[in-house]
Amino acid sequence: MTAKRNIVTLDGPAGVGKTTLAKRTAQALGIAYLDTGAMFRTLGWKLGADAASLSEAELTARLAAFSFSLSGSGADTVLSVNGTPVGQEIRTEEVGMLASIVAKLPAVRTALKAAQQAMGAATPLVAEGRDMGTVVFPEARCKIFLDASPQERARRRFDQLVAMGETPDLEALTEQIRQRDDQDRNRAIAPLKPAEDAVIVDTTTLDIDGVFNEIMRHVKANA
Ligand code: DC
Repeated sequence: MTAKRNIVTLDGPAGVGKTTLAKRTAQALGIAYLDTGAMFRTLGWKLGADAASLSEAELTARLAAFSFSLSGSGADTVLSVNGTPVGQEIRTEEVGMLASIVAKLPAVRTALKAAQQAMGAATPLVAEGRDMGTVVFPEARCKIFLDASPQERARRRFDQLVAMGETPDLEALTEQIRQRDDQDRNRAIAPLKPAEDAVIVDTTTLDIDGVFNEIMRHVKANA
């Protein structure tokens, strides 16, 4: 049997709260967190949707220009690309959709999987994304899959945007979430799905503290 690695995986669909929870879990454990969605977002933002029409060789060459690194730990973990911390510009729904488009490309998945595994080999991690438990860290010691209905995830996003002074459209947000779910769950490589040995936590009726407590209960059970 392969030895379990000191990695906690948090997978799940868009808008389920993975980044907030990964940060909080990493802080409680005193280890770094890896937001792999931020890596796909960075590539979606820098390469654009046209990446899908490049040849495999051309795309691989472009990808070689990006080097991701992680520093610090807990809530202070910083993900950088080519030495510069990844910023807020990648946090829009449009960049999320671009990320989901480039995430279907085999060359992109191969490059990011190698970078993610290198970071996991160097340091214990709370790793969040879509394929952490299934593909990137199959030997993780604790795997959690977070879920919630699309309506609930859209409502949470709506509340966040209202709190930021924006005037979002709940129906449009729900539709964006459904489209991204569809792309992430139905792609050929590393689709969004729970690992066979993952614990599934339905967060629809839980608040963030409730989900965090549930995560920590499973983490401790697998210490
Ligand atoms: O978690 P997020 O919304 O920031 O991720 C943006 C997109 O990146 C998501 O829609 C699909 C892709 N992604 C992926 O394919 N695999 C991952 N491990 C993380 C994200």
